[in-house]
Amino acid sequence: MAENENQAALDPAKLVRFYRVFGRHYLQHIGLLTVAFTSLLLGIGVSLALPWTLALLLDIVANQPIPTVVASHAPWLLGDPMVAAAVLLTAYVVIKILISLFTFLDKYYVSVVGETMVKDIRERVFAHLQRLSLSFHNAAESGDVIFRMTKDVKDIKKLLVNIPQDLVQRILTIGSYGGILLVLNWKLALLAFTVIPTISRYTGKTGLGVHKAEKKKKKKEGKVATIVSENLRNMPLVQAFGRESSERAEFVKQNQSSLTADLTAIRLFARFKRLMDMLVAVATASILYVGGRAVLDGGVTLGTFYIFYKYTEDLYGPIDKLTEAIVSLAKHQVAGERTLELVESDMVIHDTSAAVAVPEIQGRIEFDDVSFAYKKTSGPVLEHVGFTAESGETVALVGHSGAGKSTLISLLLRFYDPTEGAVTIDGRDLRKFTLRSLRSHVTILLQDTLLMHKTIRENIAFGRPSATDEEIVAAASKAEAHGFIAKLADGYDTIVSEDGRNLSGGQRQRLSIARAILRDAPILILDEPTSGLDAQTEANLTVAIDRLQQGRTTFIIAHQLRTIRNADKILFLEEGNVVDQGTHDELFARSPQYRELYELQQGGTAA
Ligand SMILES: Nc1ncnc2c1ncn2[C@@H]1O[C@H](COP(=O)(O)OP(=O)(O)OP(=O)(O)O)[C@@H](O)[C@H]1O
Ligand SMILES: [Mg+2]
Repeated sequence: MAENENQAALDPAKLVRFYRVFGRHYLQHIGLLTVAFTSLLLGIGVSLALPWTLALLLDIVANQPIPTVVASHAPWLLGDPMVAAAVLLTAYVVIKILISLFTFLDKYYVSVVGETMVKDIRERVFAHLQRLSLSFHNAAESGDVIFRMTKDVKDIKKLLVNIPQDLVQRILTIGSYGGILLVLNWKLALLAFTVIPTISRYTGKTGLGVHKAEKKKKKKEGKVATIVSENLRNMPLVQAFGRESSERAEFVKQNQSSLTADLTAIRLFARFKRLMDMLVAVATASILYVGGRAVLDGGVTLGTFYIFYKYTEDLYGPIDKLTEAIVSLAKHQVAGERTLELVESDMVIHDTSAAVAVPEIQGRIEFDDVSFAYKKTSGPVLEHVGFTAESGETVALVGHSGAGKSTLISLLLRFYDPTEGAVTIDGRDLRKFTLRSLRSHVTILLQDTLLMHKTIRENIAFGRPSATDEEIVAAASKAEAHGFIAKLADGYDTIVSEDGRNLSGGQRQRLSIARAILRDAPILILDEPTSGLDAQTEANLTVAIDRLQQGRTTFIIAHQLRTIRNADKILFLEEGNVVDQGTHDELFARSPQYRELYELQQGGTAA
């Protein structure tokens, strides 16, 4: 995944991109968001009135004049003080209840929307992961990807709803309280505002620091997850080779770095809070001093002074919280960037806009001067490969290990696209077809036996979920797998553990052969179909495989050359080049290298 530590830590453009990419998820919840936003506005509006109830009460109790603007609208304030006090206190309670109601509605619906968006985005990211080509997955660290899918996606809820909600609420509150303060007494108000530039500067600085620390922490957490996932998968290797302590040391190192980064962020934030509190305390004290003197001089009433004090306090509260929200934004932007990296990774094998479904095909396959490299930076693995497999023919690929055989057939499924040249089917470039329909025409037996953590039945039917039980059993029988499956306590309902660890290598291989048989597609690819089997099973299977090849264009890779002697065409690969092609007899007659390879194997087999 892209490492971009050297880029500016806080990149607003990335934030904008984040909202552009995930913005559409808001639209589905526009109704609930409107309710939440309206509640937010109402809550702020009502809370503005709260200090007045207590201020007027103070003036009544202290027998001070009620401001004329207020008195003219509420003459009852000038009547019986007990009645006025009762009305004010009731109003106080009602306002408190309303504030809590509006806060609840706002917070609740925002949470509902946030959680739902997280769920939707997670589904979107997973779907994208499935589309990403093997080039991406080969390079990605699985633990890091899992960490992004789980923790990061969860964390972006803050970025999606909580932080915007906080920002809006606080900015509106600060605006309204600040405005009222200015109207009440502009001099005092300006005094209250003097701390703002200092606060902004420190907020920015802390935000940058926290962002950097969070980025480091997440990277380390991803590494921790990768070490865990790798060790879990390879525990036999680690235990057998006695590498527990060195693996643990690496784990401890990454875990410690994650903690260090986390502590840095915590320390930065704590220091920031301390400074904020100090600033606010000094500013409040100055206002109390100036305001207190004004009361003593008789310039303002106690109630007005209280109002002023209260609004100032209510102004600093949100300012404080606003700065927290900004720092939090900087922190959670990291999770946003990491999720965005997944979604924006375009290592996807795309359908072109003109792609069509594969029509009825004959199954004639041609490699037209195909070259391929796994990475732009590394050398080519296939160089100018050209050959034709006529419909229904069996083409065998032979060559030393690493010659490019598996790579060649992976181009047929478009796991990768050629770097140069084209693979065609019935004369049409594979890229002209939709991936899905292309792959539905191909059955593949991979060299690495891959099984899912599902029942044996589901594994066999993985390529054709609609298969009946009879068809599944028939395929298993052809693959020489029925015998061992029937002996298992749960038979076809036995759960295959992760990576097929509860089966033997040969059993896993026979399951994957059964899966290939059941798939039943016009093009068949067999990569080392019988490599891990005993001689008897191999002999039985060879018959089944021969039968399977009838009427299908087949590609077969086998190190045992005698198993492919009957192939219509043998491609002899060396270091990514087809050095010769022809039937076994032709190659045997004219190619010394082929003869050498063949005799080597005959010798190897005999030994
Ligand atoms: N995913 C990959 N990324 C980068 N290089 C790869 C990848 N897969 C294979 N290679 C390289 O490509 C070359 C050809 O590999 P390939 O798997 O096609 O060989 P092969 O002929 O199938 O060998 P074998 O007989 O051992 O299965 C090798 O040098 C290998 O290192
Ligand atoms: Mg191979």
